[in-house]
Amino acid sequence: MIHEVIVTCRSQEGEDQIAPMGVVWRQGEVVIAPFRPSRTLDNILGGECAVINYCDDVRVFAGCLTGRYDWPLVEAEQVDAPRLVDALAHSEVRLLRVEEDQVRPRLICKPVYQANHRPFQGFNRAQSAVLELAILVSRLERLPAEKIDAEIAYLTIAIDKTAGEREREAWDWLMARVEAFQKQKEDAV
Ligand SMILES: Cc1cc2nc3c(=O)[nH]c(=O)nc-3n(C[C@H](O)[C@H](O)[C@H](O)COP(=O)(O)O)c2cc1C
Repeated sequence: MIHEVIVTCRSQEGEDQIAPMGVVWRQGEVVIAPFRPSRTLDNILGGECAVINYCDDVRVFAGCLTGRYDWPLVEAEQVDAPRLVDALAHSEVRLLRVEEDQVRPRLICKPVYQANHRPFQGFNRAQSAVLELAILVSRLERLPAEKIDAEIAYLTIAIDKTAGEREREAWDWLMARVEAFQKQKEDAV
């Protein structure tokens, strides 16, 4: 089972990094799997720690894919990394070992501290739709145009019926990216 989270970490030079990642929990350990090249990978290898943020503000996911990285951060409690202020909960983790891979190494980490900050509000279809569109945006180059159009048509239903302001804003950022990509492709023809 893959959980879509926001991973925050810090470089050896003290620069904070924030990235959506899909993580897998395996017997009390969490696996973070960044594709090379990756700042998250470099930072976790360097600092041997990170924070897994459980966040229902989908603007953070959409923002990181569209150049908006300025989300409020505070220091984690037990590791040298920041955490998202607006996360519902977070886990601070330390690197245990690395499963090497040329394309996508696996960073096996163990939680050392966890905290809850806000209650989970229940599932929201528009939030899921934004996440799906974010993943689609991260693969635009590799997907056929008809698939992109068909998926967006389907996901739009959940946005129209169930979105709040945050979800609409996130959706609009991602759609602007899709439209710019489509225009660029048309202009190239
Ligand atoms: C929902 C979601 C899940 C993602 N999961 C991963 C992942 O598991 N591994 C990865 O390398 N990139 C993943 N990405 C893409 C990264 O967030 C994106 O490429 C980011 O810029 C990587 O930053 P980095 O240079 O610190 O690795 C995901 C994106 C989204 C929207």
